[in-house]
Amino acid sequence: MKTRFWRIQGNEKDEQILREAANVIKRGGLIAFPTETVYGLGANGLDRNAANKIFTAKGRPADNPLILHISDGQMLKELAEQVPCAAQKLIDAFWPGPLTIVCKKKPHIPDNVTCGLSTVAVRMPSSPVALSLISLSGTPLAAPSANISGRPSPTDAQAVYDDMAGKIDGIIDAGKTLVGLESTVVDCTARVPVILRPGGVTCEQIKKIVDVQEAVLQDGSAPKAPGMKYRHYAPKAPLHILGREDIQKAVEEALGKNVKVGVLASRQALEQLPQNVVALGRWEDDLAMLAASLYSDLRQFDKQNVDMIFAERIAQEGLGQAIMNRLEKAAEAK
Ligand code: TXA
Ligand code: MG
Repeated sequence: MKTRFWRIQGNEKDEQILREAANVIKRGGLIAFPTETVYGLGANGLDRNAANKIFTAKGRPADNPLILHISDGQMLKELAEQVPCAAQKLIDAFWPGPLTIVCKKKPHIPDNVTCGLSTVAVRMPSSPVALSLISLSGTPLAAPSANISGRPSPTDAQAVYDDMAGKIDGIIDAGKTLVGLESTVVDCTARVPVILRPGGVTCEQIKKIVDVQEAVLQDGSAPKAPGMKYRHYAPKAPLHILGREDIQKAVEEALGKNVKVGVLASRQALEQLPQNVVALGRWEDDLAMLAASLYSDLRQFDKQNVDMIFAERIAQEGLGQAIMNRLEKAAEAK
């Protein structure tokens, strides 16, 4: 399949591009598009066959449900059987934005979108390009991150192209995504909502609005966000998470064994290291900067063919929680 590539440039052509892309969606095709979190791989979320193509293109396990992306409040009413009070408060506080809520689903949503669950995950992104595409398509868009399953999520159109060229109908390029990590997923069907996946809206921000629990995933138990149990966010080389004080020694040992080393660390930690490492990250105190470049840095290590990656551990506060969640998954994967 030939994959079309459109660039959004902030001029009068954009509308025409978005209309063409929306027509592809209406005909049951697949379009990768930017959101404020990561690029999504979109299809008509009410069309079973279209949604099936997402699973095939990504190589996604058939029991990992999709998020439906909407562009206005009316669309939510057509998807959720009921919007509990806590969900409404979260919506008022964080939509449009990097928050996904899980509610009881209406029966007309295809089973392959929700993987047979009685619930549906819904999010209203804040990216204007995403909102226009959804609204021009006239249907909620089922959209997982636009990567091959198990690879780091794409935060620019090139990363989408690297994974998806030839497998999907088109890619809309609107530059780098702002947040760089996926949305926070909150299950609002329980009496006390549960954070299933930490993400772009922090736990502290959510706790200011409603009482929430954080999901604890125990070995052997069925995780409530099915996606969380899979290998994820994996660079090709093994990744080890270390405290800042331990990085220098680990790097020197690895270099002694003639290994090509990648390091993802703060500016302070990198300053102490030899020149012959692939040094990425370089954040100061700003975790938003680390989040925004995390996935592209993991992909960069792949491109540079490093044999081993050391990542600096950060405090599990604010965005640090979602960042550590992704790093731990990347570390587990090997
Ligand atoms: O920021 C994002 O959320 C991005 C952009 C494209 O919007 N999308 C994204 O989708 O990260 P995906 O498919 O990579 O992750 C969706 C997560 C998975 O962990 C999935 O298991 C969970 O949401 N999920 C979807 N439907 C669910 C449901 N009904 N109940 C519980 N978890 C659900
Ligand atoms: Mg994903």
